[in-house]
Amino acid sequence: MSDNTLAGKVAVITGGNSGIGRASALALAELGAAVAIGARREDRGQAVVDEIEAKGGKAVFVQADVTEKDQVEALVAAAVSTFGGLDIALNNAGIEGAGLAPLVDETEDNARRVLEVNFFGLWHSMRAEIPALAKRGGGVIINTTSVAGLKGFPTFSSYVASKHAVEGLSRSVAMEVAALGIRVNTVAPGPIDTDLLERTTGGDPSGFVQFVPLQRTGTAEEVAATIAFMASPQASYVTGQTLRVDGGMMA
Ligand SMILES: NC(=O)c1ccc[n+]([C@@H]2O[C@H](COP(=O)([O-])OP(=O)(O)OC[C@H]3O[C@@H](n4cnc5c(N)ncnc54)[C@H](OP(=O)(O)O)[C@@H]3O)[C@@H](O)[C@H]2O)c1
Repeated sequence: MSDNTLAGKVAVITGGNSGIGRASALALAELGAAVAIGARREDRGQAVVDEIEAKGGKAVFVQADVTEKDQVEALVAAAVSTFGGLDIALNNAGIEGAGLAPLVDETEDNARRVLEVNFFGLWHSMRAEIPALAKRGGGVIINTTSVAGLKGFPTFSSYVASKHAVEGLSRSVAMEVAALGIRVNTVAPGPIDTDLLERTTGGDPSGFVQFVPLQRTGTAEEVAATIAFMASPQASYVTGQTLRVDGGMMA
């Protein structure tokens, strides 16, 4: 992709202050997009904005908890008012929950919280984004799911359920909004070296890596490169799809 593939485009990224979201903010900005980053931790968000601006890019941070509909709407509104519209939305905010446990030992609070962030957070986000994208005559939505959105993982059932829900939501909405010129796809990472994986594995990802044919974790930058492709005009006939970035785990 050429350096200015996304020149003039405006992107919103939830969970853009860390891991895959941060790498994607940098990647989209590198290709010329202006980026509005939403998350809860302001210091981490401002650091990404500073990094993008230091390279000559445009970015803004908006403190937004995706479980709060008003805050998500304010994030989208800030992207539109700061940069003039919305073309790309990466709905990436997500949590792993309270740790691994069989269903019968999991708390209801944990199951509800995981679905609240991973499913309803994204549900609020898409509902705020679609009218703004339609106003520009179309655009792109990319939702971060997981290999856990495509197969079961014992002791991780609420996270798995939340990501399966997003897969189904994304494919259905892709069909609804195609006539508006909006493409909706998901990116499904395998184990990626981020804070989330560190928290989930206690720093030893070998339990996941044993199922990865490439025999290593992926990097946030490798996922971001795929997201950048899906956001670009090169993917203009791609919608309703899941692109796995998983080192062959689901082959
Ligand atoms: N790493 C992996 O192995 C892996 C594999 C498959 C899928 N994924 C998915 O990739 C996405 C990004 O995760 P990551 O691996 O990059 O982990 P991460 O570094 O922990 O990033 C998670 C991001 O989500 C944000 N977030 C969490 N709760 C939020 C809320 N209520 N409102 C707004 N933002 C919230 C966090 O920011 P704040 O805490 O500041 O709000 C952070 O920016 C997630 O959806 C995750 O499920 C990760």
